[in-house]
Amino acid sequence: MVNPAYRGLERFDSLPIGVFDSGLGGLTVLRELHRQLPYESAVYFGDTARVPYGDRSEAELLQFVREIMTWMTQSGVKMVLMACNTSSATVLEQIQAEFPVPVLGIVLPGARAAARQGQRIGVIATPTTAASNAYRQAIAEANPAALVWQVGCPEFVPLIEQNRVSDPQTVSVVRQYIGPLIAKKIDTLVYGCTHYPYLEPVLRQLLSPLIRKIDPAVHMVAAAAKELDALGIRSSTTMSTSRFYVSGNVRQFQQGASGWLGYRPDTQQVVLPKTVFQT
Ligand code: DGL
Repeated sequence: MVNPAYRGLERFDSLPIGVFDSGLGGLTVLRELHRQLPYESAVYFGDTARVPYGDRSEAELLQFVREIMTWMTQSGVKMVLMACNTSSATVLEQIQAEFPVPVLGIVLPGARAAARQGQRIGVIATPTTAASNAYRQAIAEANPAALVWQVGCPEFVPLIEQNRVSDPQTVSVVRQYIGPLIAKKIDTLVYGCTHYPYLEPVLRQLLSPLIRKIDPAVHMVAAAAKELDALGIRSSTTMSTSRFYVSGNVRQFQQGASGWLGYRPDTQQVVLPKTVFQT
């Protein structure tokens, strides 16, 4: 249902959609956005000075996401995709209540897709997402009979951010976390962190093709398309542009991003506003 607070946004249809993550991970959502909604423009922010988010406390995540959201809303976006499972699993509802722009999380669309398709579901995620039980709860609501195993994988994000997916050592690291899920005879595996689609070549080596892989980015963007239509703010122009911003090193981000995007994104470094929030 359309949140009544957003009625009257129609005139904003040509504004970009904000997409953010701790680093490279949210680009898996951005690429999907380009694929499903090619006429939408985007503002991408990667908090690369503070990556990884995956073992941060809820209080830290709330502070970081508030800073990003303050900057995003000042930049003029019509909607924000929280392309970070760790933030979506912990602070989404609070952020939705605080900011006057529609904010979509990634856990719910991913969990619902998994619940529709699987009965024995493995979720690989950051330690904070796994500990939050957000996937287990959302899957149980949609399919109470499904069995769910969540595994926190602290080493995956640093390997991806350091561009080490092709290192021989990466296969053994991934095997160590996937092994217990294979032993449980899962029929479905959820990529519960937006960085993990980068590991697809390694995961393909280790997993039977009979195990369904769910990339929540696909379902998040489908949910965003519905929301844009419901709000009447889907872009009606055929020109789309993406702008890229990071809090850390520009070159390192460009290097990691270009393989995934297929182009070297023009990127600027920004300093986020240090906003003090009343809690
Ligand atoms: N890509 C984010 C997620 O989906 C954050 C990962 C991290 O920085 O640890 O959880």
